[in-house]
Amino acid sequence: MREVYEKLRFGKANDDLIRTQLRILVIFAFMNPAMNALMYMIVVMILYMGSAQVRAGMTTPGTIMAAITYTTQLLNGILMLVMLFQNISKGAASWGRLKEILYSEPELVDGNCEEGTKTRGTIEFRDVSFAFPGSDQPVLKHVSLTIRPGETVAIMGATGCGKTALVSLIPRFYDVAEGAVLVDGVDVREYRQKALRDKIAVALQKSELFSMPIRENISWGDPNASEERIHAVAEIAQADSFIRSASEGFDTMVAERGMSLSGGQKQRISIARAVLKPAEILIFDDSTSALDLKTEADLYEALNEARPEMTKIVIAQRIASVRRADRIVVLQNGRIEACGTHEELLKSCRTYQDIYDSQIGKEGENNE
Ligand SMILES: Nc1ncnc2c1ncn2[C@@H]1O[C@H](COP(=O)(O)OP(=O)(O)OP(=O)(O)O)[C@@H](O)[C@H]1O
Ligand SMILES: [Mg+2]
Repeated sequence: MREVYEKLRFGKANDDLIRTQLRILVIFAFMNPAMNALMYMIVVMILYMGSAQVRAGMTTPGTIMAAITYTTQLLNGILMLVMLFQNISKGAASWGRLKEILYSEPELVDGNCEEGTKTRGTIEFRDVSFAFPGSDQPVLKHVSLTIRPGETVAIMGATGCGKTALVSLIPRFYDVAEGAVLVDGVDVREYRQKALRDKIAVALQKSELFSMPIRENISWGDPNASEERIHAVAEIAQADSFIRSASEGFDTMVAERGMSLSGGQKQRISIARAVLKPAEILIFDDSTSALDLKTEADLYEALNEARPEMTKIVIAQRIASVRRADRIVVLQNGRIEACGTHEELLKSCRTYQDIYDSQIGKEGENNE
């Protein structure tokens, strides 16, 4: 009962209304079998009493059968009425929930700006602090960072330090608590959301694939893309070789949530999808973690060659994935601890040195 109550409870739903509806549902749920039992008990009673009267010659079997038929018809009618009330009650509960969705106010209010004022691909975090909605724990604290057009910036840091939170402020999945995020010189809150999100392509940490052919999974990034462009982005994402060797090439069906593919294959398809989108900012959130180092290096080389003008933000855990970036940002507990090139950080950032030592150490051990 508690579980059903929790399921029905949705958003700001009226608790009293839900409790009343639950009570009605429970009463009707018990009424249905109770009505059936009552009906058959009455039939048995008529048969029992009727048989005695037939034996005594006071009535005929035909009269008894007629009585049974009329009684069952009457009780069936009552049963139908019960079911009708049951359906009305379910419908009322569903309508209550539907109404909450239909009439809910969006938390992010759309601006009306369509285009930025600075060069396309500029991103600025201006003293940004942020906490997830419903949480008073700050995830990002006074983050300031400017990313130039065409630059590749890598973000590193321990798990849970706020990397995904930082990049999700760029397409305005959430609003900042303090400070501002600017894309092309304009605060993201001033953009029309579609205009802002058209500028940004994201390959998420968890690749979302759908139960459709590989081609359509890729062209999700740009439904009007030509066959040549789809093949070209698959090549950039280093996905073309495994796609071509699949049973039906680009027409091969992907199982629901990409279950028929390996982790690295899924990642490469979602990278191809992101690269296909004609955007000016590309965000990879740990999107190459399942690729071997050679494939990953080939991917970045092909990407830089094909889309040099795109601003790229790459979240990664491996030094090998970030060392070629123009700048590496080291995040710690929601703050920028250091920012610089691989060589600069090796000299100046203790955390980066530790990560470097642990990973090079591991590679050394593995090679032995
Ligand atoms: N939707 C959410 N609501 C509340 N807190 C969240 C939410 N998502 C993440 N957090 C918390 O915010 C912090 C930062 O999360 P975030 O996803 O940005 O970490 P991350 O650096 O990307 O970690 P990882 O390397 O594991 O992906 C974490 O402590 C996490 O528990
Ligand atoms: Mg993350």
